[in-house]
Amino acid sequence: MHRFEYRGREFYCEDVPVRKIAEAVGTPFYLYSIGTFLDHFLKLKAAFKSAGPLICFSMKANSNLTVLKSLVNEGAGLDIVSGGELFRAKKTGVDPKKIVFASVGKTPAEIEEAIRSKILMFNVESAAELEALNAVAGKLKMRQKIALRLNPDVTPDTHHYITTGAKQNKFGIDRRTAYRLFMEAYRYPFLDFTGVHIHIGSQITDSRPFVAAIRRSLEFIDSVRAGGGRIESMNIGGGLGIIYSKEKPQTAQAFADAILPLFKKYDLGRGLRLILEPGRFISGNSGILVTKILYKKKSRAKSFVIVDAGMNDLIRPAFYGAYHEILPVVKARGQVHREHADVVGPICESGDFLAKDRVLPALKVGDLLAVMSCGAYGFVMSSNYNSRPRAAEIVVRGGRFFTARLRETRGDLIRGERIVKAAL
Ligand code: LLP
Repeated sequence: MHRFEYRGREFYCEDVPVRKIAEAVGTPFYLYSIGTFLDHFLKLKAAFKSAGPLICFSMKANSNLTVLKSLVNEGAGLDIVSGGELFRAKKTGVDPKKIVFASVGKTPAEIEEAIRSKILMFNVESAAELEALNAVAGKLKMRQKIALRLNPDVTPDTHHYITTGAKQNKFGIDRRTAYRLFMEAYRYPFLDFTGVHIHIGSQITDSRPFVAAIRRSLEFIDSVRAGGGRIESMNIGGGLGIIYSKEKPQTAQAFADAILPLFKKYDLGRGLRLILEPGRFISGNSGILVTKILYKKKSRAKSFVIVDAGMNDLIRPAFYGAYHEILPVVKARGQVHREHADVVGPICESGDFLAKDRVLPALKVGDLLAVMSCGAYGFVMSSNYNSRPRAAEIVVRGGRFFTARLRETRGDLIRGERIVKAAL
């Protein structure tokens, strides 16, 4: 599942004791097991082998260049959502014909950069975006493949901030409008309408909503084909859930077993190309956040463990009420007394917590904690709030560790900023 485990009392990432890394780089830091990223990617690839899909890692989940490069080396493509992600993607040397670009708000400049970069396709979210794309492609005298992102009107059981395939979400195009757009493709002479895309949400542990959404999409493909439209690819998005606590998500194999039969008559690989965009499934359990206990504090109502990582480093608990398991990096000897506490950061907000009402082993000031399952939507959502430099990103491969991104410096905090005398 992942390569973080205790060996004796010491917590290891692959073959390196986490304590050793903390001693070398200081805290807090993100720690990634490259072996785990690759395991997850290869598991998915193997499960879908018969379909020969293009698996585009959704780099919004983790855009560290070393992480991306490790996946690209194994044949992964990338799912991008901005010009900034395109810039990072290109740094990895990924074949642009393995890049897909989604987002409801692509700017003309981003569109131009991506067309010039010869990416595989845009996942288009509105009729207005088609106009914009066609105009830019026309100006460049280049043709561009596009997929329409359908809104399949499916509501999976997940946090309401991360469902995306329901009618009331801003994402996708309803099927009736999408059908009309396919039939009117001639109005966009610089665009090739060749794909259908869906993404119904994130952290979905059950295959049923995927099956429902794919069924609807395949019916849609049938109707477009019957109407004379040409569809070469079906992108089923990402969204596969992982274990944070007691979830029982589908395995890659169970997911493939539920999905692939739906495509029986479509001759996957030849008649229809399958594209996947997983982010969390590959990266979530491949990384942790390591933090140190600064203080312990008891009020009449509660106990607090105050650590040196805050909501600026990991916003998921504050933002989604997300659960992240917290483990000691070195287990105490002998009988462990358990205590009940909130694990909180140094930031001036009551929402600044990593865990609420958690039963923890007896801990003391200076102890290191591993906040688990932080490889997806961890560092990428971090900020400089409270003028805190963003954490370092460390990667482990086998018995060695490397700094893949330096901890930010004070200088980084004010880069690009100046005191404007004229405004004083
Ligand atoms: N494709 C599209 C179009 C997406 O919008 C997303 C995620 C993915 C793929 C990848 O989804 P995944 O396989 O990672 O579930 N910040 C939130 C999650 C936001 C997900 C946004 N879209 C969190 O921390 O839970």
